[in-house]
Amino acid sequence: MPSQRGSARRRQRCVLLAGIAILLIALVLAAVLASVLTGSKEEANPEPLRWQGRGTTRNLREIVLGRCYSYLAEGHAELRDKDCLKIWESLKAAFVHKNPCNATTEDYRPLMELTSHPVPCNKSLFWSRTYDLVHLYSKCNHHFLTLEDTFLGYMLDGLSWCGDPSAPGINYESCPKWSECERSSGSVFWKMASKMFAEAACGVVHVMLNGSIEAGAFRTSSVFGSVEIFNLNPDKVSEIRIWLMNDIGGPQSDSCSGYSIKKLRNILEERNFKITCEDNYRPVQLLQCVHNPDHPDCNLCISSTEAP
Ligand SMILES: *[C@@H]1O[C@H](CO)[C@@H](O)[C@H](O)[C@H]1NC(C)=O
Ligand SMILES: *[C@@H]1O[C@H](CO)[C@@H](O)[C@H](O)[C@H]1NC(C)=O
Ligand SMILES: *[C@@H]1O[C@H](CO)[C@@H](O)[C@H](O)[C@H]1NC(C)=O
Repeated sequence: MPSQRGSARRRQRCVLLAGIAILLIALVLAAVLASVLTGSKEEANPEPLRWQGRGTTRNLREIVLGRCYSYLAEGHAELRDKDCLKIWESLKAAFVHKNPCNATTEDYRPLMELTSHPVPCNKSLFWSRTYDLVHLYSKCNHHFLTLEDTFLGYMLDGLSWCGDPSAPGINYESCPKWSECERSSGSVFWKMASKMFAEAACGVVHVMLNGSIEAGAFRTSSVFGSVEIFNLNPDKVSEIRIWLMNDIGGPQSDSCSGYSIKKLRNILEERNFKITCEDNYRPVQLLQCVHNPDHPDCNLCISSTEAP
């Protein structure tokens, strides 16, 4: 009978549809299962630790390598045997995968050894809170060298880096501030580099301090006041000359006769150093005048250029 044949075909179609439906459900389940599984794999990858400072500089490797080759290309003869790839690997080994609040001087020793070079006598220029001005000066007067003009300091100046226990071992989101923990990767590195820079100094050394800081130009908590002055060698350093620079038109909060410089003088004289101090050392002040040509403190420039 046609109606019976029809219902059999309908039943067949039903079975077929049910089969397709089951297949589809199975596929959806498999997809859900797969996404749950990969999802849990991502959860097994924990978030990097959170800190208050800025994270590792993006493209750190390329920047360090680029600066390394660029410094060597300037033709410093004493650096001929330096190997930039090895230097990068040594920096990486010092911090990657490590807790950034647990850095040690041992971590950075290989890097320091790979990058060390002599600094000629009379050239060392220290600074505190005068970052822009001191580097403006050292860049136009090559008789002077700040830590950031040495090979190692040049490569890492202004960069940030720190490790993290979880993959990929580098924290690009945040790094500890110096104040956040005693042994952060940044503070251990810069204090160690500063110590070596101070130990290497000989002859007449200079320091540029900021006389427009309300709390005083010399602070015992600064790297200069806590690391560098205690690692200068009185047998090698004949004299320390302080340049105390005020902002043009800015507050003159401190001077060579001020309290904070007296404190510095006491510490250094106790260690048998000869000290001199000069307020607003003119060659440096002339650089400040580039940005303030009309200020009365900069007048001499004008009258001297107007002289016949
Ligand atoms: C800190 O560093 C030391 C020496 O590298 C290591 O033995 C110790 O396990 C580290 N501690 C932490 C909490 O990472
Ligand atoms: C360093 O400066 C002192 C004092 O100006 C000078 O006597 C000495 O010869 C200088 N040394 C070098 C290596 O230039
Ligand atoms: C002194 O410090 C202040 C505050 O950090 C800064 O704005 C100024 O440029 C510094 N002056 C010099 C001469 O470096």
